[in-house]
Amino acid sequence: MKSDRPIGIFDSGLGGLTVVKEIIKTLPDESIIYFGDTARVPYGTKSKKTIEKFSLQNTRFLTKFKVKLIVVACNTSSSLALNLLKRTFKIPITGVIEPGVKQALLKTKNERVGVIGTRATISSGVYQKALTSCKSKVKVFAISCPLFVPLVEEGLLNKKITKAIVYDYLEPLVKKKIDTLILACTHYPLIKSVIAGIMGPGVQLIDSAGAVAGKVRCMLDEKGLRAEGRNRPRYQFFVSDEPRIFSKEGSKFLGRKIINIKRVNNV
Ligand code: DGL
Repeated sequence: MKSDRPIGIFDSGLGGLTVVKEIIKTLPDESIIYFGDTARVPYGTKSKKTIEKFSLQNTRFLTKFKVKLIVVACNTSSSLALNLLKRTFKIPITGVIEPGVKQALLKTKNERVGVIGTRATISSGVYQKALTSCKSKVKVFAISCPLFVPLVEEGLLNKKITKAIVYDYLEPLVKKKIDTLILACTHYPLIKSVIAGIMGPGVQLIDSAGAVAGKVRCMLDEKGLRAEGRNRPRYQFFVSDEPRIFSKEGSKFLGRKIINIKRVNNV
């Protein structure tokens, strides 16, 4: 049994396109429906109740397209709403936490792992719990970096101000002698080189997007749901606010031009 139905992916905005990019690389035959909740971004500063409500609405929206699997590309939604989504919908759903955590635990040698993400992600404690419940000996150092998302959204990727802010947030982590750092936010891969420069060559950066793509491939294989590969894949993008900005900024995240964007007023 194979399936040409699309994979559904949602994020609070355009950051989830880093996950789309990896999925396209790993699964080039798969069609994708992406929803970016650009009218309500950021999620990282919001309460659990609000994030749950938005995540339920986004998932319901994607199910209208008969998607075969849903990827919650947003770390904040994955931290605060994934269990609720899995309980509510029958369709296979994956978040971004477990794949990133597994990869970090495979890589760490000294069992000192850092996690950086939005305030909501870090204060949920979900990454910390996932890491220590897989390996109780691991020491986790988690820090929220609320200014990273606006820096990336403003396109200040390699600016002096970005380096200064990244340094300010990450200096305490450098002192913790971690050897692995999870980038637990869709936006952070875009400032990976700045983060790497500050953390130094002894720290491996785990960008969960690649790990998520691998997990999606495994899930599709397990369920026999891989695309036939006979038709060209289709990529459709939906946003809840102005598509123009998404198109311009999103291509930086996706690494290619974005066409086929529609605005939806109610999800
Ligand atoms: N997509 C969010 C995440 O990965 C970052 C942006 C936001 O705060 O909504 O946590």
